[in-house]
Amino acid sequence: MLSKLTSRLLRPVMAKSQLVSAAVRPALTTRGLAGASAAAKTTCGDCGCPNASTTPPPPSAAQLAANKKHLRELLHSRIPNHSLAQQWYTDPLVYEKDLAYVWRKGWLVAGYSLQAANPGDYFTWEIGRDSLIMMRGDDGRLRAFHNTCRHRGSRVVTATQETQSTKRMVCPYHQWSYDRSGALLNARDMGNINKAEHGLFEAHCEEVGGLIFVCLTLKKDKPMWSFDPARALMAPQLAPHDLVNAKLAYSTNYTVNSNWKLVYENNRECYHCAGSHPEYIQSNYDLHLTYNKGTDGKFARDLDPTYPAKEKVLAQIERKSAEWEKLGFQCSPDSAFPGDGWYRASRMPLKDGWVTESMDGQPVSTLMGKVPMRDMGSFRIHTLPNYWIHVSGDHAVSSRLTPMGPFTTQVRVDWLVDKNAVEGKDYHLDKIMPFWSRTSDQDWNLCEVNQQGVLSSAYRPGPLSERKEAGLERFYTWYLGAFERGIEEDK
Ligand code: FES
Ligand SMILES: [Fe+2]
Repeated sequence: MLSKLTSRLLRPVMAKSQLVSAAVRPALTTRGLAGASAAAKTTCGDCGCPNASTTPPPPSAAQLAANKKHLRELLHSRIPNHSLAQQWYTDPLVYEKDLAYVWRKGWLVAGYSLQAANPGDYFTWEIGRDSLIMMRGDDGRLRAFHNTCRHRGSRVVTATQETQSTKRMVCPYHQWSYDRSGALLNARDMGNINKAEHGLFEAHCEEVGGLIFVCLTLKKDKPMWSFDPARALMAPQLAPHDLVNAKLAYSTNYTVNSNWKLVYENNRECYHCAGSHPEYIQSNYDLHLTYNKGTDGKFARDLDPTYPAKEKVLAQIERKSAEWEKLGFQCSPDSAFPGDGWYRASRMPLKDGWVTESMDGQPVSTLMGKVPMRDMGSFRIHTLPNYWIHVSGDHAVSSRLTPMGPFTTQVRVDWLVDKNAVEGKDYHLDKIMPFWSRTSDQDWNLCEVNQQGVLSSAYRPGPLSERKEAGLERFYTWYLGAFERGIEEDK
C-alpha cells in the first residue's frame, strides 16, 4: 500500500483518478471507468450501451458517396485560424472516420519496450473495435498482432494492460494456438490446413529508444506515413535518457469526457496555462513563448519579445543550448512538426534554478540511463494523434490517448524512472507525482468543460490567437489533411 503520508499528500490532486495499490501496481485506475478492464469494454461513450461494439454493416455505394459528400462539405466549410465546427467533436460519422482515416492509418505510441522486455512478454491495447497484442518473439523482435483468431475471429488473448508472459497464445474458443511470432502452431481436427496461411495478422511495429510505435495497417501494406524520418529525429535525442532501461514508477488511466481532438488541442497551446497551471508555469518558459512572424512570413515560436526578463532568459537559453549541443543534443523553442507533420522532438531549458519538472524544481530521483548532467531541461516528444512525453534528467511523464467514443477519451499517464531507482529510497511518489497529476487534472477538467460548451446549440468556431495558438492551426492542418486523404482513399 502507499504510505499514509503519500496517500494524504496525493489525495487532493488525485481525487478523480484514484490511486492504485502497490499490490497491483502498475495496474491502472481511471476517472469513471474501471481501470484496465475499461479498455477491454467498448461502449458507445455517451450512453454506455454496448451497441458501439457491433460493427456497422458496410455502407452501400450510395451511402458511401453521400457520406463523402457530407464530409467534404464539412472540410470545405473550415474557417482558417478558427476552432473546428461542432460536427468535428460530436458527429458519430466523423468519429467513425477519425478511427478509420487517422487512428488506423497513423503511427500510434502503444507503450514502452520495458512492458514486453523478454521473449513471450506481451500486453494489449484496444483502439476502437481493434485490439493489438504487443509481443516479444524468441528472436528478440517486438511484433504487434491483431487480436483476432484466424479460425472464427475470437479474441486470442484477454485484454491486459499489465505485462503477461506466455510460451504460446491459445485461443479460448477452439484452442488454435500461435507461437510468439504469431505463426499458427496447432489447429486440431482441421485436416491439412495450410498453417503458413493462418498466422495472426501482423500490424506495423517499431521501437525507438524504448518507445513502441504501432500502425494498425496490415504489415503487407504500407503505412500512410513513413517511419524512418521520425526515428532519425527521435533516436539520438532519446538515447541518453535510455527509456529502454527505465521502469514504470506509476501508471494511471483517466477517463476524460471529451473528444480526443479537444484533448490534443489542449496540449498544443499554453494560452490557457496562466489561468490554469500554477505549478507548471513555475518551471517552464512555455507561457512566455509566442509565435512570431519571420521575414519569410512564416510563424515560428520564440521568446515573447515583450517579456520583461527576455534578455536574461535568452542568455540562459544560449548558455544551456551551447552546453547541450556540445554533447550532441539539439535545443529549440520552436514547436514545428517536421516531415509528414506527425512527430516532433524538442528540448528547452527549464527556468533558472529548476533541474526537473517537480513541484520545487529539485531532483526527485536518480539520473536516468546515461544522462550526463542533472539539468537536461525539458525534452519532449509529441506524436500525432495520441502521445506526448516530457523527459527530465531524473524522470519522465507521458500521456497516451485512446479514443473511447465521440465524447470520451482515455488518457493513460505513466511516470518513468531509471530501472535501478528504488521507491522510498531514490524516489518517493509523493514527490515525483504531484507536478503532473495536478497539471493533468487541470487539463482534463478544461477539456471536459470545453466539450460541454462545444455541444451548445450556440457554439460557432472562434478565432485563434496568432501569437499563442498557431500550434493549434498546425494541428488542424495535419489532422484535416489526413482526414481529406482518408476520404479520397475510402472505398
Ligand atoms: S475462434 Fe479461435 S480457435 Fe476457433
Ligand atoms: Fe494544459
